[in-house]
Amino acid sequence: MNIFKKDKRKEIKNETPLERSNTSTSGQSLVKLRVFRINAVQNPNDVPHFDEFQVPVKRWTTVLDALLDAKSYQDSSIGIRYSCRMASCGSCGMKINGIPRLACYTKISDLDTNTITCEPLPNFPYIRDLVTDFSQFFDHHRSVMPFVKNKKADIPNVNELTEYEQTPQDLDKFLQFSYCIKCGLCYSACPTVATDLKFPGPQALSQAYRYLADSRDSDKSKRLKVIDTSHGIWRCHFAGSCSHVCPKGVDPALGIQLLRSHLLGLSNSEKKLAKLHDRSTNSYREGEGE
Ligand code: SF4
Ligand code: FES
Repeated sequence: MNIFKKDKRKEIKNETPLERSNTSTSGQSLVKLRVFRINAVQNPNDVPHFDEFQVPVKRWTTVLDALLDAKSYQDSSIGIRYSCRMASCGSCGMKINGIPRLACYTKISDLDTNTITCEPLPNFPYIRDLVTDFSQFFDHHRSVMPFVKNKKADIPNVNELTEYEQTPQDLDKFLQFSYCIKCGLCYSACPTVATDLKFPGPQALSQAYRYLADSRDSDKSKRLKVIDTSHGIWRCHFAGSCSHVCPKGVDPALGIQLLRSHLLGLSNSEKKLAKLHDRSTNSYREGEGE
């Protein structure tokens, strides 16, 4: 449905900072925002469609800014989830012009087009408009026990508490995986998740590696058991799209490779595997640019 909603901007007396900046200086242009609309909770038979909005933007306007502008001045019913606006909370993930991205981290000027299409993340059930249900995603995350388990930590007397020392080399083994913000972009880009919802997905598997590789953790065999199932790690066929869309520089595909090496008893080959992965990722990216 092609609807250009009535812009209530001029009817509102108290202008927002975004509006003031859009009207006070030059460099403003209009983009067409196409927003996926559905209300799957209230009406399971609701037919999805796109609503269109003309939104003023500047060079630094993000997709989230544009969506909030449309929500503030044209249609307050647009469903969006967001919080931090600084790529930290992981709640504003959506498909923007066909690619899973964080709306608050995507500048419209970087998209190089005047038409911005926002859709909910694939591989997640719809709730309303751009808001999807993360229950299963977090169930998978919980299933890999995302916390350090150490029997020595159960010390009844606080005076007996000791530090767990880690060398920089120990930390390097899992540091990049601890940057995950649970935004679900990798999960939405994964072709295996698309066909098998019991597959834990790249986020949960890379977190399984993060805790397995932590020198403070003492429950490694139990961790490996959780992922070594018929719907587990062996279902991954290394499409690599998870690492490609991650906004935090995490490489879930590498985590999955390293986990597999543990399961195959090749844990001493971690550095070799990392180098191999770097080489394959670089050639994939070079191939893309051709
Ligand atoms: S690995 Fe990256 S893309 Fe996946 S949930 Fe974590 S931060 Fe998001
Ligand atoms: S609003 Fe928090 S990551 Fe975008």
